[in-house]
Amino acid sequence: MADLHLRGVCKAFGTVRVIERVDFDITDGEFVVFVGSSGCGKSTLLRLIAGLEDITSGELFIAGRRVNDVPPAQRGVAMVFQSYALYPHMTVFDNMAFGLKLAKRDRREIERRVHRAATLLQIEHLLERLPKELSGGQRQRVAIGRAIVRQPGVFLFDEPLSNLDAALRVQTRIEIAKLHRELGASMIYVTHDQVEAMTLADRIVLLNAGEAVLQDGSIAQVGPPLALYHHPVNLFVAGFIGSPKMNFLPGRLTRIEPTSVTITLPDGSTARALVDASAAQPGDVVTLGIRPEHVMLDASADNTVRAEVVHVEHLGESSLLHAQMRGIENHVVVRQEGDTAATMGDRLTLGLAARHCHLFDQNGHAFKRQTAPVAETGPVPPKE
Ligand SMILES: Nc1ncnc2c1ncn2[C@@H]1O[C@H](COP(=O)(O)OP(=O)(O)OP(=O)(O)O)[C@@H](O)[C@H]1O
Ligand SMILES: [Mg+2]
Repeated sequence: MADLHLRGVCKAFGTVRVIERVDFDITDGEFVVFVGSSGCGKSTLLRLIAGLEDITSGELFIAGRRVNDVPPAQRGVAMVFQSYALYPHMTVFDNMAFGLKLAKRDRREIERRVHRAATLLQIEHLLERLPKELSGGQRQRVAIGRAIVRQPGVFLFDEPLSNLDAALRVQTRIEIAKLHRELGASMIYVTHDQVEAMTLADRIVLLNAGEAVLQDGSIAQVGPPLALYHHPVNLFVAGFIGSPKMNFLPGRLTRIEPTSVTITLPDGSTARALVDASAAQPGDVVTLGIRPEHVMLDASADNTVRAEVVHVEHLGESSLLHAQMRGIENHVVVRQEGDTAATMGDRLTLGLAARHCHLFDQNGHAFKRQTAPVAETGPVPPKE
């Protein structure tokens, strides 16, 4: 088990700056998930921690030791790759034992550790098989098993489930959560999958991409999943966390009170949001944000707007209505539980409850919301 500290960590490939000024601590036993768009540097950050890439500047500490110049095998970390990276000519047992054999461990100890990991992962009956005789899910378990036998203080997972089908992904996700509880080790996990991030993470690290990396550093926001969901610090985080993504409506501030503001939208309608905008001025350009699951077909809501349905998606457990407001180019997406009677051409009154509205200034920074964070019940599934 180990804690981990990154201090001003930067990585450049030649002149291309990929990771900028990452300051971040992971406490012993914590489960941290890195998310961000493709190419933003998630794998690079993981490889820097593993020691597979050199840190260009900054410092990395694992379990109290500065490890910038420590080779990968001596850092007390084990990495599980998306591609599994098993040796094709070795049995499952030999794949799992390989690292320990290299380290010249006692034969009985190797057997004991491999069998213990195999029991934990329920692959004992597969130990004599070759990787090509396994399913994708079984191979992934072997790759995880190989990491477990090394008894690392920190597990690094790079999209370990992305080659599995949907059902197996859910099952393996739950197993990884269990494994984390049983082993008590720190885990850093990279994924594209929102549900994996929300359900596995003690804390999520959302990475910036493009220009924002050079301007603000690589980290957009760090926090517990529901803190990012309820209190995104800017438009990028608000749009990234949550699926379907948050609706953004352009507007202007027309009234500012101590704990709320009134925004006028392009169609002339007004909406209140419960935010602290004491630093703003009437007339300022803002963006109102509201998640699809918080838009209600409710004419009695404290904010209402009119919109015409232009597209309906029936997903079974829910329906997505795409509605057009006058003067606003983007559609407003409304998520309804179950089926919907609404069809194309319907004119609806949409309720945008003030307590669910987010507000961003013209630079995309969020105004502080006055609503309680995690106590709200959202559509986010509970942990596990
Ligand atoms: N060895 C390398 N040489 C030059 N550029 C590299 C190298 N490795 C990665 N990069 C660049 O660094 C950036 C980050 O890559 P990285 O693989 O870390 O992204 P990622 O967030 O893991 O993306 P994905 O979600 O697609 O896996 C990319 O623009 C990539 O092209
Ligand atoms: Mg990657």
